[in-house]
Amino acid sequence: MPQTLPNPLNPFELGTQLKSLIARAEEALVSSLPPADTAPVELHQAMRYAVLGGGKRLRPLLVYAAGHALGESSQRLDAPAVAVELIHAYSLVHDDLPAMDDDAMRRGRPTCHIVFGEAMAILAGDALQALAFELLAHDVDAGVPPVRCVEMLRVLGRACGADGMAGGQALDLAAVGRKLTLTELEFMHGCKTGALIRAAVQLGGLAADASPEDLAALDRYGHAVGLAFQVRDDILDVEGESAVLGKTAGKDAAADKPTFPSIIGMDASRRHLEHLTQEAMDAIAPFGQRGALLEELARYAAARLK
Ligand code: IPE
Ligand code: IPE
Ligand code: MG
Ligand code: MG
Ligand code: MG
Repeated sequence: MPQTLPNPLNPFELGTQLKSLIARAEEALVSSLPPADTAPVELHQAMRYAVLGGGKRLRPLLVYAAGHALGESSQRLDAPAVAVELIHAYSLVHDDLPAMDDDAMRRGRPTCHIVFGEAMAILAGDALQALAFELLAHDVDAGVPPVRCVEMLRVLGRACGADGMAGGQALDLAAVGRKLTLTELEFMHGCKTGALIRAAVQLGGLAADASPEDLAALDRYGHAVGLAFQVRDDILDVEGESAVLGKTAGKDAAADKPTFPSIIGMDASRRHLEHLTQEAMDAIAPFGQRGALLEELARYAAARLK
């Protein structure tokens, strides 16, 4: 009988520690969102729909893993973990809108605007973004020094603004039908996806009051994992199945979007992914055993099937 290999040999299956951190993030998300039965009811419902009931929770996991690598307790990491996931969920709601990728399926369900209408989906995204910053500011109450907390707000703001996710999404829309150079493509991916993943890792480090050296190592790791994550997303759009992905496969080619496979081909994309994963591992080598969760997440980002 073939046996399922345990972690770390099976890169698709997260270990028990990460699974319990997913459960922790889920709980923190549920209690952070406004109740579904208070006014404005429809907006609250749309926000909850966008965030709860699906998602790999990779960004919260990165916050916890980075913080734990520096010996920080989960309690101080809850607020940044929730904040990055709220920003991510908002970015997905807007990414799926007809004016952007015009997608009808997300996390195995109809997209937010299909269920609640476009106006409510736009507002839900707006409100999730605002809530992320409000919650992050509360980390002062969990014992994070105010100066660190302000630094965290700055890092998150930069990661989701014009120099980060929103800027990357603008480049993505402008790139439709164009043939980008590899450098342009990497820049676009680094902004639209990489910036928030990089910020998640930095936030974990900042909440743990990391030294400048440790923050720099985490940043090299976050940069590599962030890029690897979008390279894998591009590959999965080609070879993944909609039922497994929970979103419609083949959309990039149909929309004529430049991606890693379309520019350098599938084999070179896979090699690039390996190279980025190695870069991530090298960056956190100084953490030794303390970086085990970060290692596991780097492998997962590159090998995931959805
Ligand atoms: C999808 O992100 C969008 C990208 C940035 C590529 P995820 O693959 O992390 O989506 P969920 O949160 O698991 O649904
Ligand atoms: C999305 O990239 C990046 C975001 C900032 C949301 P994609 O458009 O490739 O993500 P999917 O494939 O729809 O999840
Ligand atoms: Mg998109
Ligand atoms: Mg999309
Ligand atoms: Mg995609």
